[in-house]
Amino acid sequence: ATNRTFTMIKPDAVRNGHIGAILAQINEAGFRIVALKYTSLSTQKAGEFYAVHEGRPFYDELVSFMSSGPIVAAILEKDNAVTDFRKLIGATNPKEAEAGTIRAKYASSIGENAVHGSDSDDNAAIEGQFHFAGTEVFA
Ligand code: CMP
Repeated sequence: ATNRTFTMIKPDAVRNGHIGAILAQINEAGFRIVALKYTSLSTQKAGEFYAVHEGRPFYDELVSFMSSGPIVAAILEKDNAVTDFRKLIGATNPKEAEAGTIRAKYASSIGENAVHGSDSDDNAAIEGQFHFAGTEVFA
Protein backbone atom coordinates (compact mmCIF):
# COMPACT_ATOMS: atom_id res chain seq x y z
CA ALA A 1 0.00 0.00 0.00
CA THR A 2 1.05 3.60 -0.54
CA ASN A 3 2.28 5.06 2.70
CA ARG A 4 4.69 7.59 4.14
CA THR A 5 8.01 7.79 5.86
CA PHE A 6 9.92 10.64 7.46
CA THR A 7 13.53 11.55 6.75
CA MET A 8 16.14 14.08 7.77
CA ILE A 9 19.30 14.92 5.87
CA LYS A 10 21.60 15.32 8.87
CA PRO A 11 24.06 18.17 9.58
CA ASP A 12 27.10 16.24 8.26
CA ALA A 13 25.56 15.68 4.82
CA VAL A 14 24.31 19.28 4.67
CA ARG A 15 27.79 20.61 5.61
CA ASN A 16 29.38 18.39 2.97
CA GLY A 17 27.12 19.72 0.20
CA HIS A 18 25.06 16.57 -0.40
CA ILE A 19 21.48 17.91 -0.12
CA GLY A 20 20.90 17.97 -3.88
CA ALA A 21 22.40 14.54 -4.59
CA ILE A 22 20.47 12.90 -1.74
CA LEU A 23 17.13 14.44 -2.75
CA ALA A 24 17.78 13.37 -6.35
CA GLN A 25 18.52 9.78 -5.27
CA ILE A 26 15.33 9.77 -3.18
CA ASN A 27 13.24 10.94 -6.16
CA GLU A 28 14.94 8.52 -8.57
CA ALA A 29 14.07 5.66 -6.20
CA GLY A 30 10.39 6.50 -6.67
CA PHE A 31 9.62 8.48 -3.51
CA ARG A 32 7.39 11.53 -3.83
CA ILE A 33 8.23 14.45 -1.56
CA VAL A 34 5.00 15.56 0.14
CA ALA A 35 6.64 17.90 2.68
CA LEU A 36 10.08 19.55 2.71
CA LYS A 37 11.85 21.99 5.04
CA TYR A 38 15.36 23.41 5.53
CA THR A 39 15.55 23.94 9.25
CA SER A 40 17.53 23.19 12.40
CA LEU A 41 16.96 21.54 15.77
CA SER A 42 17.77 23.24 19.07
CA THR A 43 19.39 20.89 21.59
CA GLN A 44 16.02 20.76 23.35
CA LYS A 45 14.14 19.82 20.17
CA ALA A 46 16.78 17.24 19.21
CA GLY A 47 16.49 15.74 22.70
CA GLU A 48 12.72 15.48 22.29
CA PHE A 49 12.95 13.98 18.81
CA TYR A 50 15.33 11.27 20.04
CA ALA A 51 13.69 10.80 23.46
CA VAL A 52 13.37 7.03 22.83
CA HIS A 53 17.19 6.87 22.98
CA GLU A 54 17.51 8.77 26.27
CA GLY A 55 19.84 6.88 28.59
CA ARG A 56 21.77 5.20 25.77
CA PRO A 57 25.53 5.86 25.78
CA PHE A 58 25.36 7.74 22.47
CA TYR A 59 22.38 9.96 23.39
CA ASP A 60 24.29 13.14 24.35
CA GLU A 61 26.52 12.86 21.29
CA LEU A 62 23.47 12.29 19.09
CA VAL A 63 21.63 15.34 20.46
CA SER A 64 24.69 17.56 20.16
CA PHE A 65 25.41 16.39 16.60
CA MET A 66 21.80 16.75 15.42
CA SER A 67 21.69 20.33 16.71
CA SER A 68 25.12 21.24 15.27
CA GLY A 69 23.82 22.76 12.04
CA PRO A 70 20.94 22.90 9.58
CA ILE A 71 19.07 19.81 8.45
CA VAL A 72 16.54 19.01 5.74
CA ALA A 73 13.33 17.38 6.98
CA ALA A 74 10.95 15.66 4.59
CA ILE A 75 7.90 13.42 4.40
CA LEU A 76 8.07 10.89 1.56
CA GLU A 77 5.34 8.84 -0.08
CA LYS A 78 5.67 5.51 -1.89
CA ASP A 79 4.49 1.90 -1.81
CA ASN A 80 6.08 0.35 1.31
CA ALA A 81 7.73 3.68 2.10
CA VAL A 82 9.25 2.80 5.49
CA THR A 83 10.82 -0.50 4.40
CA ASP A 84 11.96 0.68 0.98
CA PHE A 85 13.46 3.87 2.38
CA ARG A 86 15.49 1.94 4.93
CA LYS A 87 16.82 -0.18 2.06
CA LEU A 88 17.70 2.97 0.11
CA ILE A 89 19.65 4.51 3.01
CA GLY A 90 21.45 1.33 4.11
CA ALA A 91 22.59 0.15 7.53
CA THR A 92 22.95 2.61 10.44
CA ASN A 93 26.69 1.90 10.48
CA PRO A 94 27.99 3.07 7.08
CA LYS A 95 30.68 0.36 7.20
CA GLU A 96 27.85 -2.18 7.00
CA ALA A 97 25.79 -0.26 4.43
CA GLU A 98 25.40 -1.88 1.02
CA ALA A 99 27.25 -0.21 -1.87
CA GLY A 100 25.17 2.46 -3.58
CA THR A 101 23.02 3.20 -0.52
CA ILE A 102 22.86 6.79 0.69
CA ARG A 103 24.82 6.01 3.85
CA ALA A 104 27.47 4.03 1.94
CA LYS A 105 27.98 7.07 -0.29
CA TYR A 106 27.70 9.96 2.15
CA ALA A 107 28.01 8.83 5.79
CA SER A 108 31.26 8.85 7.73
CA SER A 109 30.39 7.05 10.98
CA ILE A 110 27.56 5.43 12.93
CA GLY A 111 26.88 8.77 14.63
CA GLU A 112 27.36 11.03 11.61
CA ASN A 113 25.41 8.87 9.20
CA ALA A 114 24.02 11.43 6.73
CA VAL A 115 20.31 10.56 6.92
CA HIS A 116 17.52 9.42 9.20
CA GLY A 117 14.69 7.13 8.18
CA SER A 118 11.68 6.20 10.33
CA ASP A 119 11.65 2.60 11.57
CA SER A 120 7.85 2.04 11.50
CA ASP A 121 4.63 3.50 10.10
CA ASP A 122 3.67 4.72 13.58
CA ASN A 123 6.99 6.49 14.10
CA ALA A 124 6.84 7.95 10.59
CA ALA A 125 3.55 9.65 11.50
CA ILE A 126 4.84 10.86 14.88
CA GLU A 127 8.11 12.16 13.41
CA GLY A 128 6.37 13.84 10.48
CA GLN A 129 4.03 15.67 12.83
CA PHE A 130 6.99 16.72 14.97
CA HIS A 131 8.37 18.74 12.04
CA PHE A 132 5.36 19.69 9.91
CA ALA A 133 1.98 21.31 10.41
CA GLY A 134 -0.89 19.84 8.40
CA THR A 135 -0.83 22.87 6.08
CA GLU A 136 2.81 22.09 5.17
CA VAL A 137 2.01 18.61 3.84
CA PHE A 138 0.90 18.34 0.20
CA ALA A 139 -0.85 15.09 -0.60
P1 CMP B 1 18.94 7.41 13.34
O1 CMP B 1 18.38 6.40 12.40
O2 CMP B 1 18.72 8.83 13.04
O3 CMP B 1 18.35 7.14 14.81
C1 CMP B 1 19.13 7.06 15.96
C2 CMP B 1 20.53 7.47 15.74
O4 CMP B 1 21.42 7.21 16.80
C3 CMP B 1 21.09 6.68 14.58
O5 CMP B 1 20.52 7.17 13.40
C4 CMP B 1 22.59 6.91 14.74
O6 CMP B 1 23.04 8.05 14.04
C5 CMP B 1 22.71 7.15 16.23
N1 CMP B 1 23.44 6.05 16.82
C6 CMP B 1 23.06 4.78 16.89
N2 CMP B 1 24.00 4.03 17.49
C7 CMP B 1 25.01 4.87 17.78
C8 CMP B 1 26.28 4.70 18.38
N3 CMP B 1 26.69 3.50 18.82
N4 CMP B 1 27.06 5.79 18.50
C9 CMP B 1 26.63 7.00 18.05
N5 CMP B 1 25.43 7.22 17.48
C10 CMP B 1 24.64 6.16 17.33
